[in-house]
Amino acid sequence: MYIPHSDRYEEMTYRRCGKSGLKLPLISLGLWHNFGDITPFMVQQTLLRTAFDHGITHFDLANNYGPPYGEAERNFGEHMRRDWHTHRDELVISTKAGYDMWPGPYGDFGSRKYLISSLDQSLKRMNVDYVDVFYHHRPDPSTPIEETMGALHDIVRSGKALYVGISNYSAVQAEEAIRVLESMGTHMLIHQPSYSMLNRAPEQGLLDVLSDRGVGCIAFSPLRNGILTNKYLHGIPADSRAASDPRYLKPDYLTDELLDKVRALNTIAHDRGQSLAEMALSWVVRHDSMTSVLIGASKPEQILQNCKIVHAPPFSKSELDAIDALTL
Ligand SMILES: NC(=O)c1ccc[n+]([C@@H]2O[C@H](COP(=O)([O-])OP(=O)(O)OC[C@H]3O[C@@H](n4cnc5c(N)ncnc54)[C@H](OP(=O)(O)O)[C@@H]3O)[C@@H](O)[C@H]2O)c1
Repeated sequence: MYIPHSDRYEEMTYRRCGKSGLKLPLISLGLWHNFGDITPFMVQQTLLRTAFDHGITHFDLANNYGPPYGEAERNFGEHMRRDWHTHRDELVISTKAGYDMWPGPYGDFGSRKYLISSLDQSLKRMNVDYVDVFYHHRPDPSTPIEETMGALHDIVRSGKALYVGISNYSAVQAEEAIRVLESMGTHMLIHQPSYSMLNRAPEQGLLDVLSDRGVGCIAFSPLRNGILTNKYLHGIPADSRAASDPRYLKPDYLTDELLDKVRALNTIAHDRGQSLAEMALSWVVRHDSMTSVLIGASKPEQILQNCKIVHAPPFSKSELDAIDALTL
């Protein structure tokens, strides 16, 4: 029987999500990789237990996480049954719909039909009555925003999700979605954009929109799939994502030019007394309005190392300038 560490809440910092009442841990754990059928169940269990034992209360899923699609939610449902059912009220569980999930015209994008039926399927797979956060996973150029936001509004009213959010929306798209949802009487809790030292697009207006509208922000892929760590500095290790599960990180992406930049960032991190992974995560949460940073992990040691950012030193102006010179 799993008994979580009794001091777990002393080790983590919790930030308020925008102007809502909900707090999220500074670090959240995503189940995009390492929770499908190619990862042993006990490895998954160790990752989830390590996270929770160190104050990570927020687990992020989506209908299509796997492989195959749905398998991460199905596995999480079994973890829920074994470990978490007595801790449900200590957890924030998120899921999403918006990418292709099942064949035909009703399993993709942002229709009311897709979002509501997908959430019903997710709840069954995960063995839960409700999720804490349900996201529209990506903008839909064809469905009226009123229909997509209307579905999110009704999902909150139905009690199947306590809060709702959006992901991968641009600044302009986010502003419109927030306005439409608010006009129905539901607050947009959070946005989930990709943000890292190697992808600074959210700085072009999105972070300001979220901050102005009281919407929280959680950055995904803050280590750019693991590139912003020391693991690829001397080749591609066999146990890395690029070697073992290169669906979204092709080895060709790791060019000499990119790795030279990563080596220079690694030197800045070393001079700050941090690993590159720690510096990359600390850099993302340097914005007060960044509620949480959403990591992936293949090994429990990675979670432990990443949790050290709770005690990270602030960035000096010269450190930030040096990072800008390499990444802007
Ligand atoms: N909304 C969206 O569209 C969207 C898209 C993508 C992701 N997400 C969410 O964001 C989460 C995180 O994404 P991500 O997995 O790409 O995040 P990431 O943090 O950029 O990359 C995670 C990977 O980096 C490596 N890593 C982590 N900590 C490390 C450390 N301390 N030292 C060395 N290597 C380390 C591990 O890879 P190895 O396997 O190589 O060890 C790990 O699997 C996902 O699980 C998902 O919940 C959302």
